[in-house]
Amino acid sequence: MSKRIEINDLNVYYSNFLAVEGVSLTIEPRTVTAFIGPSGCGKSTLLRTINRMHEVIPGARVEGEVLIDGQDLYGPGIDPVVVRRQVGMVFQRPNPFPTMSIRDNVIAGVKLNNRKMSKSDADNLVEQSLQGANLWNEVKDRLDKPGSGLSGGQQQRLCIARAIAVSPDVLLMDEPCSALDPISTLAIEDLIGELKNEFTIVIVTHNMQQASRVSDRTAFFNISGTGEPGKLIEFDDTTTIFENPHVQSTEDYISGRFG
Ligand SMILES: Nc1ncnc2c1ncn2[C@@H]1O[C@H](COP(=O)(O)OP(=O)(O)O)[C@@H](O)[C@H]1O
Ligand SMILES: [Mg+2]
Repeated sequence: MSKRIEINDLNVYYSNFLAVEGVSLTIEPRTVTAFIGPSGCGKSTLLRTINRMHEVIPGARVEGEVLIDGQDLYGPGIDPVVVRRQVGMVFQRPNPFPTMSIRDNVIAGVKLNNRKMSKSDADNLVEQSLQGANLWNEVKDRLDKPGSGLSGGQQQRLCIARAIAVSPDVLLMDEPCSALDPISTLAIEDLIGELKNEFTIVIVTHNMQQASRVSDRTAFFNISGTGEPGKLIEFDDTTTIFENPHVQSTEDYISGRFG
């Protein structure tokens, strides 16, 4: 079930280095939000705080709040493993488990969560997740072949199938198309449009056309210099950000003057 994400006064550190400063934003359920901005402004760092992946790096920590439907992910007694089941992630490079079959890749996350399943339940989940990722028709006759035998675009959809198989509330995607060709990219963009009916989606992208095609809302981040923290500069409807931004640096970035 799609849920609301609310980030309040978030500071994100790597040891003493403040990488992202003072971010507050609210992301509504059943929407796609794009994070854009020049390299190093903290898009990936911020994204990883939304499923507590940030803190797996030694010395990494946050100050502030990240709420999912009102519950603080960083509150006392919250299990990061449960958070990561509710908030799935898809990375830049498709990363299916190479020796595992397509079928086992899809249910890998579910198995990690120790859910016991009958063979028929597993079969249903595999089909449903692959259908959800628009991959079923392409792989239904070779479910027992390794996931690594698929094309890059198919592998990325397999990773999306694996992420949605655990029924998360939120899907985070960090430049999910940057390693893909244009046709595969369009397939993923179409898929994102469908997935937003079920999940709250946040996507980091360097591709301005992609941000304007897939997202409802866009957040522009920037840094004032090396070693300075990334900050949220402007967050608005995607059409406003691309057609009528309120901040000069947003306009400079989207029109390709830097970054
Ligand atoms: N594991 C890490 N340890 C220390 N600093 C990091 C780490 N990952 C990223 N950073 C730093 O945090 C800042 C933001 O990086 P990142 O979130 O990757 O930016 P973006 O995704 O916008 O390109 C950069 O200065 C980067 O060097
Ligand atoms: Mg990044």
